[in-house]
Amino acid sequence: MKQRIAIIGAGPSGLAALRAFESAKLKGADIPEVVCFEKQSDYGGLWNYTWRTGLDEFGEPVHGSMYRYLWSNGPKECLEFADYSFEEHFGRPIPSYPPRAVLHDYIKGRIEKSGITHYIKLCHAVKWVAYDDASAKFRVTVKDLKADLTTTSDFDNIIVACGHYSTPNIPEFPGVKKFPGRVMHAHDFRSADEFAGKNVLLIGSSYSAEDIGMQCHKYGAKSITFSWRTKPMGFGWPENFKEVPLLTHVAGKTAHFKDGTSQEVDAIVLCTGYLNHFPFMEDSLRLKSRNRLYPPNLYKGIFLWGHPKVMYMGMQDQYYTFNMFDAQAWYARDVVLGRIALPSLDQQAEDMVKWISKEENLADAFEAIDFQTEYVRDLLAPTDYPRLDVDMVARLFKEWEHHKVEGILTYRDRSYPSTLTGTVAPQHHTTWMKAMDDSLEAFLANEP
Ligand SMILES: Cc1cc2nc3c(=O)[nH]c(=O)nc-3n(C[C@H](O)[C@H](O)[C@H](O)COP(=O)(O)OP(=O)(O)OC[C@H]3O[C@@H](n4cnc5c(N)ncnc54)[C@H](O)[C@@H]3O)c2cc1C
Ligand SMILES: NC(=O)c1ccc[n+]([C@@H]2O[C@H](COP(=O)([O-])OP(=O)(O)OC[C@H]3O[C@@H](n4cnc5c(N)ncnc54)[C@H](OP(=O)(O)O)[C@@H]3O)[C@@H](O)[C@H]2O)c1
Repeated sequence: MKQRIAIIGAGPSGLAALRAFESAKLKGADIPEVVCFEKQSDYGGLWNYTWRTGLDEFGEPVHGSMYRYLWSNGPKECLEFADYSFEEHFGRPIPSYPPRAVLHDYIKGRIEKSGITHYIKLCHAVKWVAYDDASAKFRVTVKDLKADLTTTSDFDNIIVACGHYSTPNIPEFPGVKKFPGRVMHAHDFRSADEFAGKNVLLIGSSYSAEDIGMQCHKYGAKSITFSWRTKPMGFGWPENFKEVPLLTHVAGKTAHFKDGTSQEVDAIVLCTGYLNHFPFMEDSLRLKSRNRLYPPNLYKGIFLWGHPKVMYMGMQDQYYTFNMFDAQAWYARDVVLGRIALPSLDQQAEDMVKWISKEENLADAFEAIDFQTEYVRDLLAPTDYPRLDVDMVARLFKEWEHHKVEGILTYRDRSYPSTLTGTVAPQHHTTWMKAMDDSLEAFLANEP
């Protein structure tokens, strides 16, 4: 009987897995029966924007953490699929920092073009995955949300590709309970418009704080205060921005900080990151990690140690995104197809320890980029994924870091060369600060 493989999630990681199996099939391989379960009504993962917050139309937790006006925060040249260039998809070169809808279109284009959408069951939420020792199979319980029917079936392998930026980490601060303004987590942030004219406090000093703060400024907020726990971001912010140590408490509309300073605020946005949350995996199969470059107990960052038929994809903190998910997908596929043999458990443990101790000694973002570059290179080496020049990708990431320091409000106006075609991206017709319309049509138009 044919082996069966379940993919949980049709975001960039799950779609990479589909693409990997299909590409082997096209070259004559006998692939397992693949079923991809996706709880949303469209594929694309986080890139599939929803206006909803809280629960969706079926009462399921809303997956989406993306907001209106979200533009790529890294150059598209760093995430380009090696087997499907931006030029192939759009028929011409496009600027380096596209808005969300353009990247969603690119992700969807690759799988629609390869005719693999039929593997995906939309509006199907995976509710429970358990391993049955007797049959050596995984029992997967899935709810068809539209039909309101729950069924269970058996699979030989599981790919968990459900993302890890959807369950908000929500710390409590004294006085927040009585704060008279809006308090939300970045996961529920949808549109900067509501903050026009307001004094906004953002807790956190990573990408969500940085970008949501800039969005609010772009759409008319009066002032932006970032409150950091470990260290400030330190960019050259406009005059109405400031970075202060951690919030200690709120009294009325006044926020008090660790350095004794205070600030009147109208709204508080908790940009405090996300929890790894896999409530549908039984305890022994569940990854337990924080947001880091090398999650523990995943050999090659993929195979659950001691249970390698459970493969997690996309669970790393991410510099690399789409093409790293491809590297994981090609590697995982080759293990499933028996083309790559996994070493003994002891050897796997030794390898994981080596990566983790390396991660723990990284000094800065530049070393972190090199670390993830080595990780992707290591995965790609034994596979037939088309050549990806990871050294060039690393170089572009480092330029990007410098460009952010040179101008946090202008870095998205820069252009980079494609690592696949060498074409330097054209300038966008409007600078990012002035580009208020984030639609695909406005972005692809020849003029404002
Ligand atoms: C606000 C924000 C902005 C970002 N911006 C960028 C950016 O500019 N550039 C970049 O490269 N990356 C960005 N990222 C990183 C992002 O993580 C990746 O680009 C990418 O979306 C990760 O893909 P994924 O498939 O691993 O996860 P996701 O995109 O999260 O997709 C997971 C899929 O699994 C589905 N799913 C979850 N649980 C279940 C279940 N139980 N049953 C069935 N289906 C399920 C979800 O509905 C979803 O479709 C951003 C992340 C966030 C949160
Ligand atoms: N396209 C875009 O513009 C865009 C926008 C937003 C997000 N993203 C993506 O989304 C992903 C997640 O980014 P993220 O910023 O949400 O999460 P993150 O990178 O995990 O950062 C979490 C932040 O929250 C802080 N924090 C956590 N717990 C806290 C607590 N109890 N009190 C105070 N601070 C606390 C952390 O501080 P410490 O430093 O002290 O740990 C850190 O600054 C990234 O991949 C990013 O690229 C992209």
